[in-house]
Amino acid sequence: MGKPFVDSFGRTVSYLRISVTDRCDMRCVYCMSEAMSFLPKAEILSFEEMERLCAAFIRNGVTRIRVTGGEPLVRRDIDGFFAALGTWLHRTDGDGHLDELTLTTNGSHLATHADALARAGVRRVNISLDSLDSKRFQRITRRGRLEQTLEGIRAARAAGLAIRINTVAMAGVNDDEFDTLLAWCGEIGADLCLIETMPMGDTGEDRSDRYLPLSTVRADLARRWTLEPLTVRTGGPARYLRVGETGCKLGLITPMTHNFCESCNRVRLSCTGQLYTCLGHEGATDLRQPLREGATDPDLLRLVQAAIQRKPKGHDFLIGRHADDPAAIRRHMSVTGG
Ligand code: GTP
Ligand code: 5AD
Ligand code: SF4
Repeated sequence: MGKPFVDSFGRTVSYLRISVTDRCDMRCVYCMSEAMSFLPKAEILSFEEMERLCAAFIRNGVTRIRVTGGEPLVRRDIDGFFAALGTWLHRTDGDGHLDELTLTTNGSHLATHADALARAGVRRVNISLDSLDSKRFQRITRRGRLEQTLEGIRAARAAGLAIRINTVAMAGVNDDEFDTLLAWCGEIGADLCLIETMPMGDTGEDRSDRYLPLSTVRADLARRWTLEPLTVRTGGPARYLRVGETGCKLGLITPMTHNFCESCNRVRLSCTGQLYTCLGHEGATDLRQPLREGATDPDLLRLVQAAIQRKPKGHDFLIGRHADDPAAIRRHMSVTGG
């Protein structure tokens, strides 16, 4: 096996998020604009190209891969991609292995794919759901249908997948629903993860007055629920609390108020083969061109190692930063998958 990736701050990179498409069947208000234009197919890496890059990461110590989008399940033959990556799970031949293969999805196509994902070795899935009210769900996602996502959630449960519901917390939009969501997650045996809105990409809406610090939400929920801090971290940005009444977990992702960059273990590969070493910085390393010009595995590895050496210390998201601000992140989250 190759040498693990360690950055200049001593952080080991063991987690890869790969966005397989920038396309999505929804247009969530915090993520995309109504009139998104998507990338031409030729710019998107083929699954063979993605598999080759993933293999290089796995051989150098990446043990967890999360597939994202856009919406990963709208890409054709996504089941085959999962099956291919799944062959790396729990290998013991010393040439690298995955401990976990997972995905983040909006759930709309999960009913069709849940069984195939489980067969590929996926054990848990993060599903975005910001409201249990169908009209509100439609307003937030602009194109989504609540019933379709709920059907996906039922199929995922039937396939034996553990579920975490991701809810972006938005003032005046869904902040009256957190109790309902927490209780419902308890009923279906899912964890709930609340996420602070991050200012990324121009979505055609001003997000600054929707921003809701989760410290306030947590204090409010603690009046009605027994919330015990858990020390376990999944290596991701969420900090977890045990909900006494349901036995499920409540995760809080607070990039705006509590920076978790010092323990960051991850890099992102965009669907166009750009390697982003931080969600909150525009800088990326192009792997597509060398890949398409016949780079060898050692060539690619050198590029990845050099990029990881330059991994920034942390992001500098600012609440209320406008998309015109030179320091704003213009890239949409759907390009790098959050
Ligand atoms: P795990 O794989 O279990 O750690 O899940 P996750 O929370 O990383 O994955 P998910 O795709 O569900 O992302 C939930 C939210 O966390 C999204 O809004 C992501 O944009 C955000 N997120 C994930 N990784 C990072 C990160 O490194 N930095 C920041 N600022 N946000 C992140
Ligand atoms: N801020 C916070 N979370 C976001 N997501 C998408 N855009 C944003 C944003 N601007 C979330 C989605 C999904 C995850 C991948 O990222 O809800 O759960
Ligand atoms: Fe699609 Fe997810 Fe973005 Fe919503 S947040 S538009 S579901 S990629």
